[in-house]
Amino acid sequence: MDTATLRTGFQAQFGHAPAHTYFAPGRINLIGEHTDYNGGHVFPCAISLGTYAAVGPNDLNAFRLFSANFPTAGLTTLALDALTSPKDNAWTDYFKGMAQVLAAQGATLTHGLDVYIEGNLPAASGLSSSASLELLTGIILKDTFSLDVTMLDLIKAGQTTENQYIGVNSGIMDQFAIGMGQKNRATLLDTNTLEYEYLPLAMGDNVVVIMNTKKPRALADSKYNERRSECEEALRRLQTQLDVPSLGALSIDEFDQHTALIYDETLIKRARHAVFENQRTLQAAAALNAGDLAQFGRLMSASGVSLAYDYEVTGVELDTLVQTALKQPGVLGARMTGAGFGGCAIALVAKAQVPAFTEAVGQVYEAKIGYPAEFYVAEIADGPRQLD
Ligand code: GLA
Repeated sequence: MDTATLRTGFQAQFGHAPAHTYFAPGRINLIGEHTDYNGGHVFPCAISLGTYAAVGPNDLNAFRLFSANFPTAGLTTLALDALTSPKDNAWTDYFKGMAQVLAAQGATLTHGLDVYIEGNLPAASGLSSSASLELLTGIILKDTFSLDVTMLDLIKAGQTTENQYIGVNSGIMDQFAIGMGQKNRATLLDTNTLEYEYLPLAMGDNVVVIMNTKKPRALADSKYNERRSECEEALRRLQTQLDVPSLGALSIDEFDQHTALIYDETLIKRARHAVFENQRTLQAAAALNAGDLAQFGRLMSASGVSLAYDYEVTGVELDTLVQTALKQPGVLGARMTGAGFGGCAIALVAKAQVPAFTEAVGQVYEAKIGYPAEFYVAEIADGPRQLD
């Protein structure tokens, strides 16, 4: 999207010219799924699809927000002195939540602002359109009001917005992946210590293809919170005899030798995923570093199997995409990405095979599910920034 289009949209909506334009990316997670709230490692990267904004001051003492993606919602006006009101169950909650969290931390929002938003991330697709909007809001407020906050502060404010305002008990991965995103690099993050390192995504003749189920993610939030409490219960049972701070702190052997402390089929499956997935993530980062893409792909696929059978967060749409992808020539690995329950999967595919790949997987998907999937080649991009 070019900034001229954004500026024209802003002008048409508000009748004056914007001061600046901004962008925040979405994210994919290569491996390390449902490990971030278990003190484990994640390995995501920011993508070139994301959320754009044109912004200019007003003298109304209010934020006026418009999204081209939700035109029927119209213009939302949030008075600066009423930012503490509860959420409205609207797209504007992410903006309002961030403003509220930053204000509670001491940010002084001294004047009103007109904001025109337009994104090209498919909504509710597991590519973090919400964290993208949170970080976009964060840099807009930081820039406009000269807030003394770091990118890490904005990342944490995004997570607080999700947890305390929106009501999703998510970990820090999405906000971190977006906030710290770097072009052609993935971020290996230890969610226990927040230490991280960038690894170049040197994929030779391969690309990451994003496959969108286009399945509406109904009930995703409650199922997500349920998985999180199942992991917490498994940890609580382990802690009756083991001195361990999180599932991410356990080796595979330590876990295996103590499953009798849990003794519940479902809880063991959930915890086993968290423990194995954390180890797989470290192995995958090492394989990528060593240029062993075949091994990287195998670990991606193993992660997918664990998410389908131990963590049980896939479903027929994601399973169809992933299983069909794995049968195609030139595919090194495939798995769902993000929270699951619909949303997107990713596959590591030889560049030359991409057209045949999307054609074949698309056909099988539509025949089985009844509507088409969508495919995008992921471009790994930089984090949030002012455009002009
Ligand atoms: C969602 C959450 C993240 C993470 C993933 C699963 O994207 O927002 O914190 O838990 O699911 O890995």
